[in-house]
Amino acid sequence: MLILGIDTSCDDTSAAVVEDGRRIVSNIVSSQSEIHAKYGGIVPELASRRHIEMIMPVVDEALLQAGIGLVDLAAVAVCHGPGLIGSLLVGCSFAKAASYARKIPLVAVNHLEGHVLSVFLGESVPAFPFLSLVVSGGHTSLYVAEDFGAYRELGRTRDDAAGEAYDKVSKLLGLGYPGGPLIDGLADKGDPNALEFPRAYLPESLDFSFSGLKTAVLNHLHNTARKTASSGLLPQGQIQDIAASFQKAVVDVLVRKTEWAIKRQGVSRVALSGGVSANRALRARMKAMASERGVEVFIPPVHLCTDNAAMIAAAGYHHARRGEYAGLALNPRAYLPL
Ligand code: KG4
Ligand code: ZN
Repeated sequence: MLILGIDTSCDDTSAAVVEDGRRIVSNIVSSQSEIHAKYGGIVPELASRRHIEMIMPVVDEALLQAGIGLVDLAAVAVCHGPGLIGSLLVGCSFAKAASYARKIPLVAVNHLEGHVLSVFLGESVPAFPFLSLVVSGGHTSLYVAEDFGAYRELGRTRDDAAGEAYDKVSKLLGLGYPGGPLIDGLADKGDPNALEFPRAYLPESLDFSFSGLKTAVLNHLHNTARKTASSGLLPQGQIQDIAASFQKAVVDVLVRKTEWAIKRQGVSRVALSGGVSANRALRARMKAMASERGVEVFIPPVHLCTDNAAMIAAAGYHHARRGEYAGLALNPRAYLPL
């Protein structure tokens, strides 16, 4: 069964063709990072305008690379939320038009389900149930995946998402957008124990909180600037130490909370997904913790951690298999819990 997936939830325009929820036939991602970089974050109006320009060429390229036409599709699966409403509208309008014009069944996919199921596009796949940590620019949530379509949330961030904290700290350090890969790169050269930033463990809870950590970095920068009586950029060595210490605080919390959830739920498999799961330190620490506990770990290849339509097509396959189709009245939703 060939499914066309479409994702325009944030700042990437993506279309992909996936067979049977497992085999990627094509996966095109057109990034808008360059457009938003000079603003230090995503400008929603610019994002939706760019999606309008890119949606047709991106879908065409996905079909071309797959060597198929719209008529060969079993369904078109579109991400209808959560995300930026103007961005989501572009993908949903396109998918509805294609579905109507070519009489292809339409499937609506929650972006978070896409991230959870992105591990099924990797080489080895988890059996159910498994614990799933989704860490992205908009979300930081722990779920137990009982089956396809059956997810139970154990905890979520109470304020900033982990990726959001990376992006905001990157902006504070004058590094650019998106901040995750930039801090990931700099952290290697710094001392992760140079600065003691706070970790919000929220005892007894599997929720997360990263806004205090971001404020601690901001306070540190203010204090350093006051001491050196300079408002200019810090020396490179200090920026590397801040990046490394900040990253260690984020990774410590994510790994520790995942470990708590493994213990509480008694699961023996854990999956990691979302943009922040591209982070090398997080991948390494999660693997080390899992191997210590004798737990299997599943992490998609880096290009499938960040937003992509292959994960939407993979999730869409399971909806189609169960006969869960959407009508043309489908509307995108900025807020859409899994
Ligand atoms: O999943 P994603 O592409 O979009 C959302 O659904 O939000 O995640 C994007 C987020 C951004 O905040 C970006 O800074 C972060 O993932 N990210 C990383 C890395 N690569 C991307 N964070 C830490 N380390 C990375 N290597
Ligand atoms: Zn995402």
